[in-house]
Amino acid sequence: MADKPSFYITTPIYYVNAAPHLGTAYCTILCDVMARYKRSVGYDVKFLTGLDEHGEKVQLAAEEHGMTPQEWCDSLAPAFHETWHTLEISNDDFIRTTEQRQVTAVQDLWVRMRDAGHIYKGSYDGWYCVPDETYFTETQVSKADEERHTEGQHLCPDCGRPLQRVQEESWFFRLSAFQDRLLALYDQNPEFVMPDFRMREIRAFVQGGLRDISVSRTSFDWGIPVPFDEGHVTYVWFDALLNYATAVGFGDPAMADEYARRWPAQFHVVGKDIIRFHCVIWPAMLMAIGEALPEHVFAHGFLMVRDDETGKNIKMSKSLGNAIAPQDVIDLMGVEGYRYYFMTDCVPGEDGGISYGRMQQVYNADLANSWGNLVSRALNMSVTYFDGRTPELAEGWADDPSPLRDIACGIVERYCAHMDRVEYGQAKDVVMELVHAANHYIEDSAPWTVAKDPGRVGELVAIIAGLLESIRICAHLLAPFMPETSAEVLRRLSLADEIGTDELLSTCAWGGLLGGVPVSKGDALFPRLQGK
Ligand code: MSP
Repeated sequence: MADKPSFYITTPIYYVNAAPHLGTAYCTILCDVMARYKRSVGYDVKFLTGLDEHGEKVQLAAEEHGMTPQEWCDSLAPAFHETWHTLEISNDDFIRTTEQRQVTAVQDLWVRMRDAGHIYKGSYDGWYCVPDETYFTETQVSKADEERHTEGQHLCPDCGRPLQRVQEESWFFRLSAFQDRLLALYDQNPEFVMPDFRMREIRAFVQGGLRDISVSRTSFDWGIPVPFDEGHVTYVWFDALLNYATAVGFGDPAMADEYARRWPAQFHVVGKDIIRFHCVIWPAMLMAIGEALPEHVFAHGFLMVRDDETGKNIKMSKSLGNAIAPQDVIDLMGVEGYRYYFMTDCVPGEDGGISYGRMQQVYNADLANSWGNLVSRALNMSVTYFDGRTPELAEGWADDPSPLRDIACGIVERYCAHMDRVEYGQAKDVVMELVHAANHYIEDSAPWTVAKDPGRVGELVAIIAGLLESIRICAHLLAPFMPETSAEVLRRLSLADEIGTDELLSTCAWGGLLGGVPVSKGDALFPRLQGK
């Protein structure tokens, strides 16, 4: 393990105010695909997800349910574990901010911030959005009110929900002092924020000037106590952001080696709504205490519900009655269809317009008719023509010219280049070139005719071997999206040893197929979906 390079990837930690939904699942699967892909190309991956358990929003949710905040968090945490398990999430760690490791780390952060002179005590007087756990100034609020023509109640400039007036004693973090250093960071690392239009958005925001932020609360107590000031608890974001460092040993001398090896993270994947926290406040916090900065923050868009008739995207919400739950999608097309659809049909950096109609279309076209059909036809033919086995392969068979070999040889590098840039749809398109070519090749080479002529057996071997070899390669490349289907395909080809390879490039070199080994046809991988 130690000689493999480390790749550390994180999801946001989710608020425990509700069960996991399509949006949080989207972000988690997006990371899972990257984690699985990076493992397959030889990285020692650490994939972290978890729960953001402090703050007013969680406290209120607990009160509404007649529980203490801790009881409430404990009662909801299993739903996250279960959903991630169902969705085949391969996280290596799961952090909850109420764990002792986080309390220790946050208190360490406070002491280091104070010792470095980056915090000071003052009093906060302004607006607060509890659902977003975000502060707003008078100016921001009145500007938003003006734009919305709201009178009386002040609404959150971001989410439009009612704001709370907050006046309390508070510690402040000198964020304003980091403006130049942040701008230099963006200039020197143009891919610190991805995609690049988000980088531009963040740069413009920071160029507009930064205000110091309030980082402790005194009007309620569901948070990590400030170690040197009784009555103050940590502002939930100041606590939450640190989770990424805590999980690899920040603040724990016993984990110094792990921290040195894992930190900084390579990828923080977050939704577009929380990029200021991750691309401005978080790097400034790390700069303040002299720690290394994460390499990339990748911002994904929002899932919206697409109206297939008008083509318009509408916000998904319980009150509009158009919310889709993860289980609804699983019921329609299984977990692997679910993962494939969201990861390849929604562009990760943009908002995704999802609909049942589109889900069915993608599933039938790509999975039932193309990939599933290819596997089923080729394996069937191998079983029929070669007595339940793959054809016997002569030494050097892989060097023989084959139209599929030409295509297969060029795709792995292209696929990797897209996967590295979170261009999952394009990576999938590259794999599909081989899937489609193989399906056409079946029609063009008509193995059923060749099989009738005993004098053409060499030709038949070449055709079936070419098809099975293409399938083997595609199974590996599709594994980050659909791990179980790929494993099943490899098992059917007696290639179980290749499951979970960490040498994708060499594994996908043309010629890995085993000759003369048992093949099983199995059930259809993706039965066609009818109607709706
Ligand atoms: N607790 C904070 C994150 C702290 S990270 C140090 C938080 N939690 S959240 O549960 O509200 O949201 C977590 C993620 O879910 C965000 O990245 C957000 O963008 C994402 N999504 C919530 N609804 C979504 C969609 N409809 N579509 C895609 N993702 C969305 O924010």
